[in-house]
Amino acid sequence: MVSILPTSSATGACRATAPSNIALIKYWGKSDASLNWPANDSLSMTLSRAHTVTTAKKSQGMAAHRIAFGTSSDTAIPARDNGKAQQYLEWLRTEVRTFGPAEGALDILTNNSFPSSCGIASSASGFAALTLAAVGAWTGAKNMDQLKALGISTAHLSAWARRGSGSACRSIDGGFVRWTRGNSPEQQSAGTIFCDDHWQLADLIVMIDRSAKKVSSTEGHARTWTSPLMKMRMSGLSERMKHVLEAIESRDLERLGTLIETEATEMHAVMMTAIQRTDYFGTPTINFISWLRNRRAAGNIEAWFTLDAGANPHLLCHPQHVAHLREQIIKNFPDYKILEDQTGGGAKLESLEEKSDGH
Ligand code: PMV
Repeated sequence: MVSILPTSSATGACRATAPSNIALIKYWGKSDASLNWPANDSLSMTLSRAHTVTTAKKSQGMAAHRIAFGTSSDTAIPARDNGKAQQYLEWLRTEVRTFGPAEGALDILTNNSFPSSCGIASSASGFAALTLAAVGAWTGAKNMDQLKALGISTAHLSAWARRGSGSACRSIDGGFVRWTRGNSPEQQSAGTIFCDDHWQLADLIVMIDRSAKKVSSTEGHARTWTSPLMKMRMSGLSERMKHVLEAIESRDLERLGTLIETEATEMHAVMMTAIQRTDYFGTPTINFISWLRNRRAAGNIEAWFTLDAGANPHLLCHPQHVAHLREQIIKNFPDYKILEDQTGGGAKLESLEEKSDGH
């Protein structure tokens, strides 16, 4: 665990922990790229173990923000995005100033609990944690309740985090989170629609390929409009969202699983038919998915996959089936590492000053 210890009581030193999320209905394509206004509503499940921890404190002697990243393979926001994160912090400062002073450069350290660029949304938890830590350090709020008392709600935090990376807006709240597009960029919003205790699902992330994706999601969002399938995708998404919501409400995993597999396959079909064809996975992932489907058809496994912009599937199943599923994967694919996760709660803010002087 990484921490920055405060040097004086005025540093506002704090630690933000933000969960990653896995999209069940994908955010893929932007209506306004500069504002991260999505082309469609999306829905994700917040994860419990995959998270980013970011500490921040105001530093009197520094002219510019300093962002230190954890070990090179586990950075919450890739080091190449340092410039983007710096720009984002300056934009965020102007937003926070509408609630009170937000002065001073920030000394920030950020770390993931999982490897980045591997099919777990590191920019989602990364920008959510960066937002919360920066707002905590500037305002001096010691927890989420104190932020609320200043007029800063989770809706504000989510809307701000979105400007860093779209899917980060779904990493402030917990459980099943819907990001609604609205009819204008100002109307979009994200929030919990079912809490994590409504339905605990396991998510086994199968690490087929650990290398960084070749086409960034920013580039992918842009390319998606060149696919002839995009129009068809857009026309069917609200119907799919309705069915996914019903499946979650009634805790019907087979129904949800069937819907999310179609959804993920459709997103990738759009990418494969874009003018610059984009394949986020290759034969190993196709073979793994075929195996999963065959085992399921044989009544041997009850798990369904989804795939973000990468090669590593997330398998959703009931928690009581995890041990059997893990055993089957290890037996058939001994080289693939498995990360086990489950439905989780929202982001948290803590004061490090309180901790360091023992109150
Ligand atoms: O937030 P971005 O720009 O990295 O886009 C995320 C895109 C997907 O992960 C593929 C889908 C999603 O909804 O999270």
